[in-house]
This record gives sequence, C-alpha cells and structure tokens, in this order.
Amino acid sequence: MRLTDEQLKQFDDDGYLFFPGAFSPGEAAYLKRQADTVYAMDRKEVWRESSGVARTAFAAHLYNEGFRRLGAHPRLIGPVEQIIGGPLYMHQYKVNAKAAFDGEVWQWHQDYGTWKRDDEMPEPRAMNIAVFLDDVTAANGPLLFIPGSHKLGVVDAGHDLETTSYPLWTLGRDKVTELAERGGCVAPTGAAGSVLMFSSLLVHASPPNISPFGRVIVYLSLCHVDNHIRAFNREEWIAHRDFTPIVPLADDCLEELAAARETAAE
Ligand code: SIN
Ligand code: MN
Repeated sequence: MRLTDEQLKQFDDDGYLFFPGAFSPGEAAYLKRQADTVYAMDRKEVWRESSGVARTAFAAHLYNEGFRRLGAHPRLIGPVEQIIGGPLYMHQYKVNAKAAFDGEVWQWHQDYGTWKRDDEMPEPRAMNIAVFLDDVTAANGPLLFIPGSHKLGVVDAGHDLETTSYPLWTLGRDKVTELAERGGCVAPTGAAGSVLMFSSLLVHASPPNISPFGRVIVYLSLCHVDNHIRAFNREEWIAHRDFTPIVPLADDCLEELAAARETAAE
C-alpha cells in the first residue's frame, strides 16, 4: 500500500489517516480470537482494570504467532516506513481491550511525550498504527483525537500515576480545551479490520466503555532504527530494546495462518 500525495497532505494537516477495511473480516476475527487467548493468560505483560478484566496485553508479538505476524505486516509497515522514511523497529506493542462495561479511560496524552520523558527517544520520528479487531463505534470507547495537535511539538504534561493502572504523561484540562478550540475533537470509528495511523505527537484519549460491546484495538508503535530509545527506565516488554529493523512479511501471512488453524480444527 503506497500513500498518495493527497493522503500525505491529509496526514500532514490532521496528524492521522484512516483506512477502512484494511484487513478482511476473516483476518480481524482470527486476531480477535488471539486477543481472547492472550487475555486469558496469567502473564506479567497482561495488565488489568480494577475489576480484573484485561486492559492491555503488552508485547503480544513476542508470545503469540498471529500478533508476531501482524507486527511485521506489510499493510502496516509499508505506510509507516513511507512517512518515517527508513527502517523501523518495534518500540511498543499493545493489544488494548476496553472491555464491555468495565473498560476504563485513557487520559489525554501524546505518546511521544512519554517516550521522550521516560525512554529518552531523541526525536518524534515514530508512529502509531492501530488495527481495530472489533467494530469501533461512538458507544464503545473510541479513540478521541485533536486534529492538527501533532504540529505543536511536545506539550506540557504531568505524570499521572493514579487515575489508571498505567502511568502516563497526561495533559491538563486547560491545555486540552485550548487545543480543541483550535482543532476540534474527532472520534474515528469503523468496522473491525480498519486501520488508523496517527502521529506520535497527536493529542489523544479515550473514554470509558460502559456499553455492552467490547473494543479491542492493537497498537504498533514503530520508531526509526536510528532514533532508538537511549534510556532503559521501563520494563523491556513496555519499551523494547531490540532495535533490529522489521522485515515485512508476505501480504497473506495472516490468511495463511488463519486457514491453517481452521484446517487443524476440522
Ligand atoms: C493509547 O492511547 O495508547 C490507548 C488508547 C486506547 O486504546 O483507547
Ligand atoms: Mn496513546
């Protein structure tokens, strides 16, 4: 998938791009089953909400074959390489649940704000690319973006160690209001299999999910290999230390796996 000039301009203006149906319903359903398997594991990488339901499975590409393949999928690596302009390594990998009824808030933040302050990533030459494994709707805790906020560099933030189970550098209400009065606030929604690429400087959040519908999204945080983190303050399965360039796999790498598992189950 090669981004057009129009898409590149849109990314530059807004800080994100949305690709509906980038993965087929079968690929998304296969990965959703893998998410359920991972969430059922008793592992240190699987973090839970106060109710006990899964919130995030970190580094799932290192212990699940489907997520390993997704982490090197050409439909994700290609466009990010095109914008970042060179080989990429995986800085962080999350399978975020936002469970029905119990999925809690992600406060307003910029991912690069945390990567710079906690991990000493030199520059924002890094990108998030997200794959919806459920339909994401207005009801089930979608991502909220402030378009254009990626143009402002790293904005002031405080270290939030209390409101959720995951420490994050979060923005104050006055700053969020100021930014949203300029750029607005949007919630890109779409069917399972859709992909959302967004700048590591884009200000974003997501509300709690009190709907009866779960909302699993996988996030690859990809960084140019030359821009690797300099400080190892966080667990290596949260901020990875393997800076090996990702070599994209074949486009049908997930279909092949899903088909093999179905045959084995017959
Ligand atoms: C994030 O901002 O890193 C996660 C937000 C979400 O999954 O809702
Ligand atoms: Mn984030």
